[in-house]
Amino acid sequence: MIGQFLSGRASAYRHLTLDECESTNTECLNAAYDSDPGNLWISALSQTAGRGSRGRSWTSSTGNLHASLLLLDPCEKQHLAELSFIAALAVRNTLAEVLADAGDKTIGLKWPNDVLVNHKKISGVLLESTSKTDSMCIAMGIGINCSQHPENTLFPATSLAVQGLSITSQELFLKLAGHAADVLCQWNRGTGFTRIRDNWLEHAEGLKRQIKINLPNRGPINGIFETIDERGYLLLRTANNETMRISAGDVFFD
Ligand code: BTN
Repeated sequence: MIGQFLSGRASAYRHLTLDECESTNTECLNAAYDSDPGNLWISALSQTAGRGSRGRSWTSSTGNLHASLLLLDPCEKQHLAELSFIAALAVRNTLAEVLADAGDKTIGLKWPNDVLVNHKKISGVLLESTSKTDSMCIAMGIGINCSQHPENTLFPATSLAVQGLSITSQELFLKLAGHAADVLCQWNRGTGFTRIRDNWLEHAEGLKRQIKINLPNRGPINGIFETIDERGYLLLRTANNETMRISAGDVFFD
């Protein structure tokens, strides 16, 4: 796959734009099977089978941003999950830039990688990987609701349009690619995760408060969201004063 080099801060990355595909994550993983060298963004105006976390689908209509970054061997295995926080911070920084003049907005992070504007979900991240090639291939998929958002979601959703900003997905993508390049550079293949973690915690929603987490294949659990640890796990203090170390789940606030 070819793709054009981006300019400015993202100039180390190529970009391929599609009108439509099933999922930009699938496109990235297929590119890896076809020996693409990585550092490739693939964006699509719409997706016909956009994937969300935990097997859910992701509404992917024209007007919203759907993009995935293919990374090959981005770090040692133990740092891979940190890419969740990289993606979330890149989106957060992008939204902080574009919403700077759109009135007073809270741009927060919901563990591990959702971005919230005024406490509603505007963006989601899906990391997928394959090791079927000689390298560890990661697709870091990002969806941002620019013009539309789904109704009746588990967690309330919003869009940039509802928040008073009209921006095309292509304009927003160029800003996202710049911020992602910056955050990946700070992360430095995992050696800079302490700073990433601090930045993430600065914007975390629900910290030191009572939250509910729906754990995969287990019911919900309540407790105080103490912090995230040095690997990005959520530390939850439960009613019997035990600290649980949680690797995955959907967080809800009271
Ligand atoms: C979530 O459920 O919060 C994650 C949503 C991730 C959606 C993005 S859109 C681009 C990429 N392609 C996909 O099929 N999913 C991700």
